[in-house]
Amino acid sequence: MKTDPIEKMSGHWLLAKVGKKVLRPGGLALTQKMLTMINITPHDDVVEFAPGLGLTAQLILEKNPKSYIGIDAEENAVKLLQRKFKHSQALFQLGNATHSSLPVQSADKVFGEAMLSMHADHRKSEIVNETKNILKPQGLYAIHELALMPDHLDENVKLHIQKELALAIKVNARPLTVSEWKKLLEKEGFKVLQVETAPMQLLRPQRIISDEGLSGFLKIAGNILTKPKIRSRILQMKKIFKKYEDSLCAVAILAQKI
Ligand SMILES: C[S@@+](CC[C@H](N)C(=O)[O-])C[C@H]1O[C@@H](n2cnc3c(N)ncnc32)[C@H](O)[C@@H]1O
Repeated sequence: MKTDPIEKMSGHWLLAKVGKKVLRPGGLALTQKMLTMINITPHDDVVEFAPGLGLTAQLILEKNPKSYIGIDAEENAVKLLQRKFKHSQALFQLGNATHSSLPVQSADKVFGEAMLSMHADHRKSEIVNETKNILKPQGLYAIHELALMPDHLDENVKLHIQKELALAIKVNARPLTVSEWKKLLEKEGFKVLQVETAPMQLLRPQRIISDEGLSGFLKIAGNILTKPKIRSRILQMKKIFKKYEDSLCAVAILAQKI
C-alpha cells in the first residue's frame, strides 16, 4: 500500500502488506457490535472516516444505506477502494476527517475505526467537531478505538505506553482511557449512548484466525516468515502489545449529536 521503507512504515500499512485486512484493535467482533449499535438502515446517509481497506465499508453496503461516502487521508487506499467498489453506489474521497468538505448536516450516521487513536488530542477534538458539523440533528456517531485501562491509570505510565507504542507502530499513537474517550465526545457536543470493550489482541494467532480466516492466517504467517525486515518490525509491535496487554483494550462507543 505505502511505499515508505519498511523501517518507517506505519504499523497498519505494514500489516496490510503481509495480507492483514482487519486493522482495528477490537477485531471484527467489536466492529460487529459497533454496527449493531449504530444500526444502519436504507434511510441513512452514511459517512465513514478512514475506511482503510474497506472491510467495514463492505459490511455497511450490505445494509443498502441511502448513501455511503468514505473519506481516507491515504491516496493509495482511496484508489484501491475506488477500484474495489467500482460497481457499488459507494463514493470514496481523498480527504482529511478534520475538514471533510462534506456539507453541514448531511449525514445521519458517521463512524470511524482505529483513526482517532492515531492523532494528538487537539486533532481528535477537531475530527469529532467536524463529525458534529456534518451530522444532522440527533445524528449518530460510532467509534472503535484503542483504549488504555484502567481509567485511573497513572499519567506517567500512560505517557510511557504512548511513547513505546508510537515507536513500535511508527504513528503518533495516543490512545485514551474509556472515560477520556467518553469525555472527548461529550465535550464536543455528543451524548454517549453505549460503550463496549474488547481485549486488544490484534496480533494474537487466535484473533488473526477469527478476523482473517485460517487461509488468511496462513498467508500472513507465510509472508511474515519469508520477509525478515517485516518480521522484525511485526515482532517488535507484538512485543510492545504483549508488554502492555494489561493496560490496553479496544473500545466501541455510540454517541448522539445533542
Ligand atoms: C489503522 S488504519 C484503520 C483502517 C480501517 N478503519 C480499519 O479499521 O481497518 C488508519 C486509517 O486512518 C486513515 N487516516 C488517518 N488519519 C486520517 C484523517 N485525519 N482523515 C482521514 N483518514 C485518516 C489512514 O489513512 C488509514 O487508512
